[in-house]
Amino acid sequence: MKPIILDVDTGIDDALAISYAVRSQELEVLGITTCFGNVTVEEATRNTLVVLEHLESEVPVIAGAGKPFMRTPTKGSTPHIHGEDGIGNTLKGLPKRGAEEGNAVDFIIDQVKRRPREVTLITVGTLTNLALAIRQAPEIVELVERVVVMGGAVTVPGNVTPYAEANVYADPDAADYVFRSGIPVTLIGLDVTMKTLLSIDEMDRWRTKDSTLGPFLADMTEFYMGAYERFYPGIGGCALHDPLAVGAVIRPDFVRGDRMRLQVNLDGEALGRTTGMPDAAGSVTVCTEVDASLFLEHFLSRVC
Ligand code: BDR
Ligand code: CA
Repeated sequence: MKPIILDVDTGIDDALAISYAVRSQELEVLGITTCFGNVTVEEATRNTLVVLEHLESEVPVIAGAGKPFMRTPTKGSTPHIHGEDGIGNTLKGLPKRGAEEGNAVDFIIDQVKRRPREVTLITVGTLTNLALAIRQAPEIVELVERVVVMGGAVTVPGNVTPYAEANVYADPDAADYVFRSGIPVTLIGLDVTMKTLLSIDEMDRWRTKDSTLGPFLADMTEFYMGAYERFYPGIGGCALHDPLAVGAVIRPDFVRGDRMRLQVNLDGEALGRTTGMPDAAGSVTVCTEVDASLFLEHFLSRVC
């Protein structure tokens, strides 16, 4: 089993990524850390616990950053994409358990140090918790197995501005800090995630499953698909951004990329743009190819 920490801003596709990770026996989920992004960090923590309750999972949840690494927030909540509650308006009540004591940054540092070169960190929200962890304990750069980041748009347009992808745009300084730190990163950006598609028909099949998980995930995903339809008329489904980062850890052969040095625009019109320069010694592997049908089949076999 691969030990992982999943860092989330739950969010609908985060909920799908959590389900995929928890339902995959190849992964040992050491903990799920939360940050602001799609929603506030408090809402992300609550939503994560709600999703885990549906999964009947006791994986620890540790709350993290509520604001960007350096600047005042540039991105608020996204009710038009993820609903008022962040999970497609499916929230029925508060989760039965709460988050663990302590904070996400200390948890990441502690887990990585306990198991040198074993722990993979999967980030599917802003890179704030990881940037704070590297600043506090720079030695973790050498001690993680690697970091798989859902974020960025290197060869394709952005999704919040023509240049920037949402997770990088919400905290560009954190992303820049992480990419410059030398920590080994596999970048799962819009370059590959926009090539994945969960169709309305596939999502609808979840409703017929006997557990409460299927209808719960279907209801929130239907909301997300509604947003997709407004942004990309006729698309007939939604991209699986955050789940692909999990998939790429279970099956690295789902994606392929090239080593690069990555830069993030920190001001101006192109704020949050990720620019890659080919560099065989670069610390970031930017994925540009994905076997989308193999990944989708695997994801569906694990979730619902
Ligand atoms: C990313 O932004 C968020 O809205 C999603 O959860 C995903 O992590 C896609 O750009
Ligand atoms: Ca996310």
